[in-house]
Amino acid sequence: MLRTRLVAGVTSGVVLSAVFATVLTVAAYGEVFVEPWRVDPSQPAPVTLRIPRTRVQTLDADGQMNFSVVREMVPRGQMVPQEPQATLIRAYERARRPASLREMGAQWFIYLLLFLTATTYMRRGSTKAAGLLRMQVGLLSLALVTLLGSKAALLFTDLPATAIPASLVPLWAALYVDRRTGLMLGAAVSVCAASLVSYDVVAGAVLMAASLTSTMLFRNRKQVGMMIVAGLAGGIAASLVYVAAKELSGGFSLMDEIALGFRSEGFMALVAPVVAAVLGLLSHPLTSRMLGIVSRARLLNLSDLDEPLLQKMQNEAPGSWEHSRMMANLAEAAASAIGSDTLLTRVGAYYHDLGKSVQPKYFVENLVEDEKSPHDELEPHVSADAIMAHVVEGVRILRDGGIPEPVIEFSYTHHGTSVIEYFWHKHQELEGAKEMSEDAFRYPGMRPRTRETGILMLIDAIEAGARTVEPPTRKGFEELVRRVIFTKLKQGQLDESGLSLEDLRVCANRITDSLCSAYHSRIKYPWQEKKAAEAAEAVATAITQPMDELRPERTEDRPSEDTPAVRESGSREAPAVQETTDERPLVPARSAPAGEVTPVVVTPKEPPPG
Ligand SMILES: [Fe+2]
Ligand SMILES: [Fe+2]
Repeated sequence: MLRTRLVAGVTSGVVLSAVFATVLTVAAYGEVFVEPWRVDPSQPAPVTLRIPRTRVQTLDADGQMNFSVVREMVPRGQMVPQEPQATLIRAYERARRPASLREMGAQWFIYLLLFLTATTYMRRGSTKAAGLLRMQVGLLSLALVTLLGSKAALLFTDLPATAIPASLVPLWAALYVDRRTGLMLGAAVSVCAASLVSYDVVAGAVLMAASLTSTMLFRNRKQVGMMIVAGLAGGIAASLVYVAAKELSGGFSLMDEIALGFRSEGFMALVAPVVAAVLGLLSHPLTSRMLGIVSRARLLNLSDLDEPLLQKMQNEAPGSWEHSRMMANLAEAAASAIGSDTLLTRVGAYYHDLGKSVQPKYFVENLVEDEKSPHDELEPHVSADAIMAHVVEGVRILRDGGIPEPVIEFSYTHHGTSVIEYFWHKHQELEGAKEMSEDAFRYPGMRPRTRETGILMLIDAIEAGARTVEPPTRKGFEELVRRVIFTKLKQGQLDESGLSLEDLRVCANRITDSLCSAYHSRIKYPWQEKKAAEAAEAVATAITQPMDELRPERTEDRPSEDTPAVRESGSREAPAVQETTDERPLVPARSAPAGEVTPVVVTPKEPPPG
């Protein structure tokens, strides 16, 4: 049974956002429900009380009205016996207790809206990884834990609100999904964090600047350490925003900030994003596992050719292994061209056909010269079953071997839900064959759901087809790549892969370049073609010359323009049945292709080697 990753939908987005909004609303108003946490200025404060910035008007001795901004913080354990602060604290506590249900409802609605926007964006605007339910639940849970932790810190310490590590979640999102998603979550988390201190404008602006700048400057996701540099940049931006915001709301004083030390909002604005980046870096192994991401170290280990499962494939299905290695090079180049995960794509290519090691002889690339194909004596639907089994068997072996699910995904999506055309048509042409539907010849896999698996599906067909391109010219490769991409698009196999038309165009160019490089030795230069023509002419002349002018040599040693081709392909003149598929033979082949694509009849005659 194939297991798949759940994709988030509208319902899951609404449920997640509603749960998130409810928990956060309860947390935001938490202390108001606990009567022992009421702050009495004449007693040591049970929790830290933060009275938001309030513009108050007072009358001086001359009867002049004055406006001033009041903002009080009563740290936990302190008393405030002096007036007028004591009166202000009592009035504030009276006004907010008991909590107004209307106010809480409004707060809940704001949270709901924020995270509905975020989950919708993750589903529709981000890369495919953000559309997975596990990723959405994981990132929102991390955001919730960060905000709940911040709320606890605000209640039980006297740290300023600018110390909230709001850039932590967006940095994780940028690392595991993309920076656009990081920016979206950064904005949402910053607003939520500011709500914990009654939407303090200065704190909100500082947190927003920290998270957006850190995320935007976290460019190189392959180097997780660059998170620290991004955090430092976020800290500088946040502290500058703090200075500007203070100037707008009462004036900034450097001396006052220095006097406050660790409790200085400006200092914390500078330090908090760096701390967030360090936390993000340290928790990377844990969070990546939680979100179902395979670490680079694990992928590098899996790409080691001494890995037992790869060794098994090399020993039991050497032809399929060569096909996988060729695919790995092509797929990695294509993934690199569109900024996808190159290492994951390479590892996915290595393991995608492991199921062929169970019954290697059912696949033409594993047959030795003159060896009979077992399909010759099987009914088409039995052959199709045998071919299709490699997908299910591959998944089983990989899962038993403890291979991470994102790598296994390549195995059960590389043929998608396509039909094995060759056996399906053979079955239809068979007289007296039992009634069967096309679905009996359909692969039991799934359509690719990431750009990386989408690329592998294309490469699987292209790599096999490339061996059949004769002569191996750039034009021939271009036509092959175009045809494979068009066929997969037409079948709808790439609909869920997230590959855009631009991605496909870039991939097509890069794959063609790679094929030209890979088959460079087969591509003849003009001088080679000229030399071959001269050789052929010389042979023709020699044959028409009188016998005594010929060098004494045995007839079978005499050069002949078709001798090499006959030797090479003579044993393969019989149609060779390959795994899958849905492609028609492209051109006559000189050697039996490995992966996708059709039966191939090898022509015995080839141009002489250059
Ligand atoms: Fe396959
Ligand atoms: Fe394959």
